[in-house]
Amino acid sequence: MPSDASTMNTPAYDGQSVAIGRIVSVTGSQAVVMLDNATDRPRGKRAELGAIMKIDTPSSIILGLVSALSIPVPSQKESVPDIRVAELELIGQLIKEEDGSIGSFLRGVSGYPSLGDAVDTASADELRRAYMWNDQQAVSIGTLVQDHTIPAMVHVDELLGKHCAILGSTGTGKSCGVAVVLRAILEQNEQAHILLLDPHNEYTHCFGASAEVITPDDLQLPFWLLTFEELVEVVLGSMAGRANAVEILAELIPIAKTRYAANRGRENGTMLKRGVGQIGSYTVDTPVPYRVSDLISMIDERMGRLENRGDVAPYRQLKTRIEAISGDPRYGFMFGSLTVQDHMAEIVGRLFRVPVKDKPICILELTGVPSEIVNVVVSVICRMTFDFALWSGGNVPITLVCEEAHRYVPNNPGLGFEPTRRAIARIAKEGRKYGVSLCVVSQRPSELDPTILSQCNTVFSMRMSNDLDQDFVRSAIFDTAASLLDFLPSMGPREAIVFGDGVTLPGRIRFADLPEHALPRSRTACFTEMWQLEEGKPIDLDDVVERWRAADSPKLNTGVHAHESGPVEGDPVPGVEAAPMAQAQPGQQPMPHPGQHPAQQSLRQQPGAKAAAPVPAPAPAQHPQEVPGQVRIPRS
Ligand SMILES: Nc1ncnc2c1ncn2[C@@H]1O[C@H](COP(=O)(O)OP(=O)(O)OP(=O)(O)O)[C@@H](O)[C@H]1O
Ligand SMILES: [Mg+2]
Repeated sequence: MPSDASTMNTPAYDGQSVAIGRIVSVTGSQAVVMLDNATDRPRGKRAELGAIMKIDTPSSIILGLVSALSIPVPSQKESVPDIRVAELELIGQLIKEEDGSIGSFLRGVSGYPSLGDAVDTASADELRRAYMWNDQQAVSIGTLVQDHTIPAMVHVDELLGKHCAILGSTGTGKSCGVAVVLRAILEQNEQAHILLLDPHNEYTHCFGASAEVITPDDLQLPFWLLTFEELVEVVLGSMAGRANAVEILAELIPIAKTRYAANRGRENGTMLKRGVGQIGSYTVDTPVPYRVSDLISMIDERMGRLENRGDVAPYRQLKTRIEAISGDPRYGFMFGSLTVQDHMAEIVGRLFRVPVKDKPICILELTGVPSEIVNVVVSVICRMTFDFALWSGGNVPITLVCEEAHRYVPNNPGLGFEPTRRAIARIAKEGRKYGVSLCVVSQRPSELDPTILSQCNTVFSMRMSNDLDQDFVRSAIFDTAASLLDFLPSMGPREAIVFGDGVTLPGRIRFADLPEHALPRSRTACFTEMWQLEEGKPIDLDDVVERWRAADSPKLNTGVHAHESGPVEGDPVPGVEAAPMAQAQPGQQPMPHPGQHPAQQSLRQQPGAKAAAPVPAPAPAQHPQEVPGQVRIPRS
């Protein structure tokens, strides 16, 4: 509804074009239009920033985007009208057929307008031709801001084949945008393979029965799938003086793998492929099973042979850490299985939806994964995504959606976990050739590794108020219509500027409304409503405190209190020399899991699970951007 008097009597927009001025200058892909003086026109029939205008030439209809408006020299007298000027970026053309009818839309311009050519607003029909794909592979994700009757379409192959990014400040609608785009894609592609990394457990209900939701409680990522680098990160973290322990692990892991394979070969009466049972068959990184118990017994054997007590220390330290981590219920998804089995195909099948079994999207909930190893889990998943695509010969195209990507691929090489960065960068650089596509979502583009963003061909840029973020996006985008990015600070919620090959033309769109049941669980807290309640919402503080503590304490997770199970904080751990990375230093706050909602934390209760020895956890990965500033409340 128009709200101000000046627009009350304006005729409604009818989708027809109307003359607005004439060309007075053309330079390269830009043109300047001198506007006529009519001001009482409805939206869609005025020269507004971001609107599309047309210039009718003999061979084509050239489309130009209004990138600037000005009155260079305002008139001093009321009787003398102002000279009003619009700058256009020439972004595409509708080709005219020989019979004069309008044909297909092409990006870029082959002929240029001439001085004095008439400039009109583009009609709804012309906009529709320009923005709509004539292709079955295109899906509608919303409408154009310029004309709400025209659907905003993206071409699925172009969008996914060359990677995409959804960027914008917090609360602008990125997660909802992801849900809108994926739901539209899934509607047309029932046999898709999409894996979504969900650090806030917010997408659980977005895709209904089409989603396979994996929580830390039913995630299976056996430790033997980890590369050596990842395993060292999990077991040793940044433990002081870990070099010796790393060396021991490097020696023992291939032997443990060989032992396991030889045993299996004997049990089955068959020798598996790859010259099983021979030392040298496996490297530290080969993803084949082995037993923790074999590692421990080999460590024991070697300790027994050592004469010098000083040499025993790294073995003992390593053994204690392996036992602690493998007995920690929070790490159950890696070490929890009582028997070691080679079920890699099953794990990969579930993650990448092969076969699809009516659930083309897999949501991996990461809240509840111990914060110190969330990066390792993401690294394993991303690496496996690429390797799976590689070894399946590109026959199973997969899309990996990486929410909060700045955490895993930060701009600062000193932050994050190098293998995660490498795995994501590899998908960004080479994934296209093997059918792996990446969709990065981030609220801090300036904290995102620029090489990743520059590989994302289609970019949805939502409102962004931070100058650094805007500059960063601008520098990563090469498009004739980059001036559209000037709108970034002033865009409405759910609006995005879209660039790249996924759309026919860059433009300003509004994502479709998600139905209530499909909204990501990230509703902004309603302060005033909650603060009106007389007694506030009833909340059990003891329960809050318990869950809070449990998040970072394996002892509490098992339901066993520290003083009952063994040494209390400050007690020396047998066999472990003061390991520094452990608890927070005095005066330091324990780092909460990023974005973790207390209600979502997993209290892993595993019957029969051994109470873990209270060994300090590895140092948490650093996430400087994880400033608790967002209030998330669960949907009721
Ligand atoms: N397309 C949409 N349909 C319905 N509601 C929407 C849509 N887009 C945004 N919203 C509303 O805006 C709120 C915030 O959106 P969303 O969670 O997607 O923001 P975000 O950019 O992902 O935020 P953050 O960076 O904090 O993750 C949603 O809870 C929802 O109420
Ligand atoms: Mg979000």
